[in-house]
Amino acid sequence: MKDSKEFVTELIHWYKENARDLPWRRSKNPYHIWLSEIMLQQTRVEAVKPYFHRFLETCPTIEALANTQEDTLLKLWEGLGYYSRVRNLQKAAKTVVDEFGGNLPRDYHALRKLKGIGPYTAGAIASIAFSLPYAAVDGNVLRVMSRLTADERDITLATTKGAWEEELSLMMPQGEEGNFTQALMELGATICLPNGLPKCDNCPVRAYCHAYRKNAVLQFPVKSPKKERTKDYLSVFFLVYNKKIALQKREGKGLLSGLWQLPNCNQEKALPVALSEWGILSGNIKNMKTQKHIFTHIEWHMSCYFVEVDVNENKDFLWLTKETAENEYALPSAFKKIWQEGCSLLEE
Ligand code: ADE
Repeated sequence: MKDSKEFVTELIHWYKENARDLPWRRSKNPYHIWLSEIMLQQTRVEAVKPYFHRFLETCPTIEALANTQEDTLLKLWEGLGYYSRVRNLQKAAKTVVDEFGGNLPRDYHALRKLKGIGPYTAGAIASIAFSLPYAAVDGNVLRVMSRLTADERDITLATTKGAWEEELSLMMPQGEEGNFTQALMELGATICLPNGLPKCDNCPVRAYCHAYRKNAVLQFPVKSPKKERTKDYLSVFFLVYNKKIALQKREGKGLLSGLWQLPNCNQEKALPVALSEWGILSGNIKNMKTQKHIFTHIEWHMSCYFVEVDVNENKDFLWLTKETAENEYALPSAFKKIWQEGCSLLEE
């Protein structure tokens, strides 16, 4: 990038004057930086703040994280979504305890080998916590850089991202690695906004911006269209037996695997068949509201049923009171509205 030295200096100057006061910016503790970056993936800053504090109260160190029960971790993560993030966090924490004495390694390549740490997170930890010259390139940074340089390359391509990782790493000023990384993030989060809303009037580096100069900010970044989401049609059951509600552990490797859920099946299966396959007989099935939940690549359209169970020969569900379920088990957001409605019906 031309003018890169002046651009970097001005950007960092702006960041130091204008950085938001965020909990993870108050410390250089590599564990805190790591946790915050994992939580902030696909999740807004304001949503993350309370989770960040609560998580650190239960798991104040990497060693504590390595030794915490998985269901406790899932409960701490409940509502943040993408639960594989916290599972991977724990796997990585165990490796850090076994191989590095409980401290994150001060080395980009060693960080990259840890479960759940990709180029973005490794770059963020390396630069922010360890002042190493590795860039952290996510969608926000790609948007900023593609506008600044009026770069026509498709930002959804791995080659574009790789090229920016290399170029930004070379631009990092010694001693200001973490500030540079965070300044780019901050510009993307507060000024160079997506969806047609950039605040160019307030931009500290407008003078360097080629898209602005061409009056073409909204034409960047160039991005190939996303694939349409797959639609799944499910029947979901709020099963009640002796005032207790059934939770089922989700099988398989894909979406929400290994998490507790309301029992459900494909809508093509007849309701009595689904129930009898679970060892359940009921003469009282009530319709609940239909629900829709959108994941990144899939959307669920759910027909929902409140079922008072007459005969229960089920072997693998957990039957829990409302209180135990809510206090001890994480239920994915897709099921939350059904849970609320079921609990109201239960009290009638
Ligand atoms: N988004 C991703 N990482 C961030 C950070 N460190 N601060 C603010 N927003 C972020």
